[in-house]
Amino acid sequence: MMTDPDAKIRIGSLFKIFGPNAAAMTERVGAGMSKEELLERHGHVLALKNIDLDIPARQVQVIMGLSGSGKSTLVRHVNRLIEPTSGEVLVDGDDVLGMSPSQLREFRRFNVSMVFQRFALLPHRTVAGNVAYGLRIQGADRNEEADRTRRWIERVGLAGYEDYYTSHLSGGMQQRVGLARALATDAEILLMDEAFSALDPLIRGDMRVLLRELQRELKKTVVFVTHDLEEAIEIGDRIAILRDGEIVQNGTPQEIVLQPADAYISEFTRKIDRGRVLRVGTVMEAIRPGLEGPPVCSADTLLADALPIVMTAPNEEVPVLDRQGNIVGAFSTVRMMVALGGGRHLGPD
Ligand SMILES: Nc1ncnc2c1ncn2[C@@H]1O[C@H](COP(=O)(O)OP(=O)(O)O)[C@@H](O)[C@H]1O
Ligand SMILES: [Mg+2]
Repeated sequence: MMTDPDAKIRIGSLFKIFGPNAAAMTERVGAGMSKEELLERHGHVLALKNIDLDIPARQVQVIMGLSGSGKSTLVRHVNRLIEPTSGEVLVDGDDVLGMSPSQLREFRRFNVSMVFQRFALLPHRTVAGNVAYGLRIQGADRNEEADRTRRWIERVGLAGYEDYYTSHLSGGMQQRVGLARALATDAEILLMDEAFSALDPLIRGDMRVLLRELQRELKKTVVFVTHDLEEAIEIGDRIAILRDGEIVQNGTPQEIVLQPADAYISEFTRKIDRGRVLRVGTVMEAIRPGLEGPPVCSADTLLADALPIVMTAPNEEVPVLDRQGNIVGAFSTVRMMVALGGGRHLGPD
């Protein structure tokens, strides 16, 4: 497998088979037996098949796929809530599967936080009581606990609700509590399993914005599970797509949309607004001598935001600048139409 020196989490050759005789089934799966056949002939469930995934530090890695594709099973291997049938899980180079019970307890208290779809709050505790929960387990002193709890409640927009019982709050507010609880412990890794999937669409949108804002500041290593490609694109730096327990593609949102690995993924990407995913630098043409601004356009600009700029240019064509202000390409309305209309072949010339 390709290994990434900046990987925070490394998952290697991971198999997970559910059933009484799982280890004995790996050979069959290795020899190519399908999930369907394994279930029908041997009564075992193939949940994950030969997963290799390097998750980069301080970025958001999305795990996407249909229900039953293995997303929850995969993310739960990171903090060993599930033991693999075979394979390896490394965090910061440490072998999670080799940890003793006490090492694992420490690891879960200090290094990894989780946010769940059904919030998993303690109903008989207040907002503050829930947010403080992870800190209490860490054994933080009471002043620090109170201080951090207040700070995180405020940061997720719940100031004033400290003493409310969480069962009296709306779903969106409950999930803000879930997020504050996870962040309060200062863990570097945040696992979010369909954390926003149970919320109403408008509230989901607000939560995505909140997560993106927080991430800009906090730079956690986030593993974010969703079945929704739009959400994946909005939140992910990288998206790994699972089907029947296998990773069929792992790449940036732009790569997934421009070069879907197969028909299964193009089906997902068909309805996506490409103007809100693709950036000028990805679909621009080679520099043309004599093309000058203003106006100019930065390589990072989303196509949707570039359109009004390009429209004001002579011949509807502008130079593209990198972050240092160097001209690195040319972009035009024609190029934009091709990119929005399909443009599988497009890429920097
Ligand atoms: N404890 C379990 N016992 C047996 N099969 C399981 C268990 N947990 C999950 N599975 C099966 O493993 C596969 C992956 O499940 P899961 O990881 O929950 O998928 P997802 O989160 O993508 O919906 C499914 O076929 C599911 O039925
Ligand atoms: Mg799941």
